[in-house]
Amino acid sequence: MIKSDVLILGIESSCDDTSVAVVVNGRKVLSNVISSQIDIHKKFGGVVPEIASRKHIENISTVADISLQKAGVKLNDIDAVATTYGPGLVGALLVGLSYGKGLAFSLNKPLIGVHHIEGHICANYIESDFEPPFICLVVSGGHTNLILVKDYTRYEVLGKTRDDAVGEAFDKVARTLGLGYPGGAKIDALYKDEFVTIPFPRAFLEENSLDFSFSGLKSSVLNYINNTKYIDTAVVASSFQKAVVDVLIKKTMDCCAREGISKVAMAGGVSCNSFLRNMMKLSCEEKGYILNMPESIYCTDNAAMIASSAYYNFIKGKISPLNLNAQPMLRLSE
Ligand code: KG4
Ligand code: ZN
Repeated sequence: MIKSDVLILGIESSCDDTSVAVVVNGRKVLSNVISSQIDIHKKFGGVVPEIASRKHIENISTVADISLQKAGVKLNDIDAVATTYGPGLVGALLVGLSYGKGLAFSLNKPLIGVHHIEGHICANYIESDFEPPFICLVVSGGHTNLILVKDYTRYEVLGKTRDDAVGEAFDKVARTLGLGYPGGAKIDALYKDEFVTIPFPRAFLEENSLDFSFSGLKSSVLNYINNTKYIDTAVVASSFQKAVVDVLIKKTMDCCAREGISKVAMAGGVSCNSFLRNMMKLSCEEKGYILNMPESIYCTDNAAMIASSAYYNFIKGKISPLNLNAQPMLRLSE
């Protein structure tokens, strides 16, 4: 470590993962501890916000202690404290934000509030030398976007979902198939090309639109399941996944062509999907585009991505006030 290195402690608690990380200069991860609540929420078939907030309160100090220990640094070595302040579940966000504020105040170090989706995008800088500008396909449980990443802190949303987020569609289809929650990874594991036999609809929308719509596909799959006597789970799951991925790939390629950009990245939990990753790789190779995909652990919610995003704000002097509030519907900064 050299004296000019910037060490940021990141905190993420916007949904059901409590995570604290220590990251150097936005790219090198010293620790990234994640305490998942999936086992608690899965019996309810989805995240229960009140339970999530309470679990964050129970876990956050321990997760922070372990993270510092793993990184081999003391609180005083930290240059700034970063915390997600939106979008997300308000009660859950407040836990990480309040903890971060307390730390920043007591250490007399800057606080940096981070937009959760900017964090997901910045996962592309972790342990890589990838740089903007690029087009990022953001696919998570709550978001589906095509974003022009102009530089490390400036973004333009070029396409968004008009209804369900893609992760939400994965989770609903998986739940109806009896695969449990969260279902994305379960559908992923069942996928085989030869199982794609049901012609579920692909919503490409109007010509030139970079927006998405998954509610028609979701309803079509649910209708199929409710109206068919003998369901082959792997066939339904694979046919659904293929319909989703076809749309995601086509829109991403269209977006690059329209913007004249030949660098592509992915972000968010659904970008763990192995079929999506393979297809994106093939499509980018075909077009001669450069592709970056974060490692799976940095695709789903984690605090390293929050510390990474904070670093680029920190070096531009973008510091948050200590009266920063949680913003459940926070929009991306242009
Ligand atoms: O980014 P994330 O951890 O949380 C949000 O910010 O929403 O994304 C969670 C979503 C869930 O909907 C989950 O089913 C989905 O990511 N997911 C996947 C896979 N792994 C996680 N979807 C498809 N294939 C996967 N392998
Ligand atoms: Zn997320």
